[in-house]
Order: sequence, then C-alpha cells, then structure tokens
Amino acid sequence: MNQIKKKTLSPKFLNLLHKLNEASEKKQMSLLLDHPWDEPVDNVWLKKRENISIYGTLYYDLASEEERRLLSVYETGSWWYTFIVFENLVSEYYMKIVNHGSLKKFPEVVKYMHHFCKEEIVHAMVFRKAMNYFNITPFPVPLNLREIYSHNASMSEFPLKAIYLTILIEWLAENNAMEDCNSKEISRLSRAVAVEHHKEEARHIEWGKNMIREFIDVVPEFLLEAQEITAPLLRSMLDMSISSIVVYSRVGFKDKAFRNYKELIPTLLNSENRKRINSKIMAPMMRYFVEIGICTPKNMKVWKDNGFDKDAEDAIAYFRKKSVHENDIDNILDKNYD
Ligand SMILES: [Fe+2]
Ligand SMILES: [Fe+2]
Repeated sequence: MNQIKKKTLSPKFLNLLHKLNEASEKKQMSLLLDHPWDEPVDNVWLKKRENISIYGTLYYDLASEEERRLLSVYETGSWWYTFIVFENLVSEYYMKIVNHGSLKKFPEVVKYMHHFCKEEIVHAMVFRKAMNYFNITPFPVPLNLREIYSHNASMSEFPLKAIYLTILIEWLAENNAMEDCNSKEISRLSRAVAVEHHKEEARHIEWGKNMIREFIDVVPEFLLEAQEITAPLLRSMLDMSISSIVVYSRVGFKDKAFRNYKELIPTLLNSENRKRINSKIMAPMMRYFVEIGICTPKNMKVWKDNGFDKDAEDAIAYFRKKSVHENDIDNILDKNYD
C-alpha cells in the first residue's frame, strides 16, 4: 500500500473530477419532477419488441401478442428490481469506504463518491416507484449480486476491485437499458426512467473507468485478477439478465413449450438476435478492456471460452486501425441519448 501513500492524482483526472462534481451539483434527478408520472399503464410495452428475449426465435410465434407485451413488462420490471438491489448495495458499500477513510488522501474523489451515493439512493427510489406504478411486485434477488460485495469488499485495502466490479455491472446494465428503451413505441414513462437514469450513470461509469486508469499501476495485483475474472463474470451477468424462469412463469404463457426450460433457455441465449444485441452492449466495454490490458492477445482463451472471441477480435482490430489523434469514442459523457 506504500505506492498509494505516494500517489498524487494526475491533472487530467482532477479535471474530470471537477467536471463531475460540478455536473452533480448543478442537476440531480428528482423523485418527483423528472418523469411523466401521469402516463397510462394499460396495454403499454416497457421495452421494445425486438429486445424481448423470445424475439427472433420460434417461441415468438408460439406466444400471443398479449404474452409478448407482458414479457416486455416483466423483463423490464425484473431489470428494475435488479437495479434496486444493486444500487442499495453500492451506496451502502461506497458510504462505508468513505466513512472508513480508505480514500481520505484524495478528497476530490471522496466528494464525488458522496454525489454518487446520493444519486444511487434516488435511482433506487425511482425504480421502486416505477415498479409500483406499473403494478410489478419484486423478484428474487440475484445471488451473484450479493456476493460481489460480501466477497470483495475488504475495508483495509484500496477498494479498486470493488470499484471495477461496480462499473462492470453499471456499464453492462446501462448499455442494455439504452438498447431496450430506444424506441418511440414504448411507454414514455419507461423510456424516461431509462434515459434520466442514464444521464447520471454515464458520469458514474466515466468516473469508475478513470479510477481504474488512474490507480491501476499502484494496485499491482489488480490487473492479473481482472484478466481472469472479467470474461466469466460478464458472461454470467449477460445471460442472467436475458433469461429468467420467474419472469416466464409470471407471464403465464399458454403454450407448454415455455415450460420446457432445458430447451427454452439455451435457445434464447444463443439466438442470432440476442447475439447481435450482446455484441452492441459489449463493444465499448471490450475496447476499454483492450486499452487497459485486461483483454490482450495473450489471454484470448478466457474470452473465447466465454463466447466473446469475436467481440475481443473486433476491439483489438479497432486499436490496430485507430490513429493516435482520434478521441476516445467511448467517453459516454459525450453521447446524447435524448
Ligand atoms: Fe443508478
Ligand atoms: Fe451508478
């Protein structure tokens, strides 16, 4: 930990922290004011048709139109519920870090973590309000989410791994949510829940990405571990987010093919439509992994074993072609989703 004691923040990172703190002070999501809480609830779709898990498979034809719509409601509701659990865990854990003083040498970082936690608390309240609004009751808590903080949250060490795991989840979740709601056909409220959330999450993710860039050299054990754990973790999070037996049983599909989970789940996870959406979610993340050395030509096996070989190759090819003058195309603060 000696290297941490000597560490001073780079001007580039300090500048980013200044901008992030300023943005959070200027405008934060309101539980009351930022969403159309008077939208109709009957017969609405909460995510776009092309992104429901059965789209592009034979199961889509076996489902009635109302079952497809209900799937869009419960898949989104289960996603919102996962956000609630995760954001509660993150704010609890980050506040613990702040109170413990592990980062007190970097007051600008601590200041942003205060904003971060406050924002996550409000997000969880908004997701809860949206679930109530559409009359969606809670889902079982995904076990792997709980484990992330209980296993990896040591207070005495510099918490780089926990920050990394947090941005992995936030980034994957955000890319997925923005793909799901990117349509005028869905409920305006559901779209606003995703877009308003994204405005603050974009800052959280950029902060997390840059915390890793800034501290990767002073936490020597981080890189090797990240090279091993990232691919399997992302695979399990992607697959968990796509198919849920609880969701399928809640929709109550009439056709009995929907109760043969051994056939249903692999078919949905491996459909061409899903692979296309997954690649879009993964592309900016893969470029980041290549940039910071988490995905390298030397550890391609773990990416291949987890089904990300094409995504990894595309990201490596991107850096081969990229000129040194090109900007960071994945800086998500620069994107406009409205
Ligand atoms: Fe959030
Ligand atoms: Fe966040």
